Amino acid sequence: MNDTAFEPFLRNAWYLGAWSEELSDGHLGRTIMNEPIVFFRGPDGKAAALEDRCCHRGAPLTHGQVVEAGIECGYHGLIFNGSGACVDIPGHDNIPPQTKVRSYPVVERQEFVWIWMGEAARADESKIIDFQFHDQPDKWPNKKGMIPIKSNYMMMIDNLMDLTHLGYVHAKTIGGNPRAHAKAEFDAMPTENGARFDRWMMDAAPPPTYKKAVGFEGNVDRWWDFEYVAPSSVLQWNGAIDVGKNARENQDQPGFHLRLFHSATPETEGSFHYFFSAANGYQQDDPEATEVLFGEIFPTFIEDKEIMEVQQARLELDPGRKLVAIPSDKALTHARQTIRRLVAEERAEMAQAAE
Ligand code: FES
Ligand SMILES: [Fe+2]
Repeated sequence: MNDTAFEPFLRNAWYLGAWSEELSDGHLGRTIMNEPIVFFRGPDGKAAALEDRCCHRGAPLTHGQVVEAGIECGYHGLIFNGSGACVDIPGHDNIPPQTKVRSYPVVERQEFVWIWMGEAARADESKIIDFQFHDQPDKWPNKKGMIPIKSNYMMMIDNLMDLTHLGYVHAKTIGGNPRAHAKAEFDAMPTENGARFDRWMMDAAPPPTYKKAVGFEGNVDRWWDFEYVAPSSVLQWNGAIDVGKNARENQDQPGFHLRLFHSATPETEGSFHYFFSAANGYQQDDPEATEVLFGEIFPTFIEDKEIMEVQQARLELDPGRKLVAIPSDKALTHARQTIRRLVAEERAEMAQAAE
């Protein structure tokens, strides 16, 4: 497949707007798909997202403050509730009904604050990813973060769906010998709304971090299981189990287990918010272990950011120019085909609706 790098946005989809913990105090401004948005909790404690633009004179609501009744504009004091309706105009009893700002459908679940960027009437909660591991903090203690990255959001999907970059981009951190992984068995396939790959390395020496965490004494069977869920999330599970324990048939048995949730929420065509949650499934009763995990992973994400930003700068010089695919692009090719199909379907529907 020869292809270019930038994909248009899929509008009718849920995007990760924030982590729940980011809304614990006041409001949060974040641009998503070129739309400035303010997130906050309304008087009922429910997460809300409004256009970050007051309907009175256009001041950003992020310059105001969260008050008991909602968010108060910092210019002339209008207050808007979580649905965007104005509930107070200082000094006036009558509130004209058009005094409102756009609100976005929001669902807070499993410590994610999901936002629907398309037609509100089509927001379907059943399409939200079920990441049940956030419901089990005892089994999967985790730590979350967000890194702003200046590249098209699909660069992150490419990055995660092709681990051959590990030995090069992460040579100084988790990479190891780039050719040592050549023996791994690799299988990639499309799914209904994304793509998936798994990779197995049988009877291999455990990496030092795994050994230290779990105390493996001999070789292990290792796996990487990655699933892209359109438009912009990747669910990762990797780990290792002692050789001879039928790891493939019973992957849930004790061993080294790590789960990462990645989401690349587009900010503009050339930038995104990279959300990640790292869950420790090996030393659950040691809070320090989760911190250590996060501390080890964070520098690798900065390495990814660096390569994606210089890649973006090059691609922007000539965005239409074709790229060359190589065999290890199999999973990312499935991912790209899925997002293209979904965008094409959405555009066809919109064109039909406009007729
Ligand atoms: S601009 Fe917001 S109250 Fe006037
Ligand atoms: Fe990476």
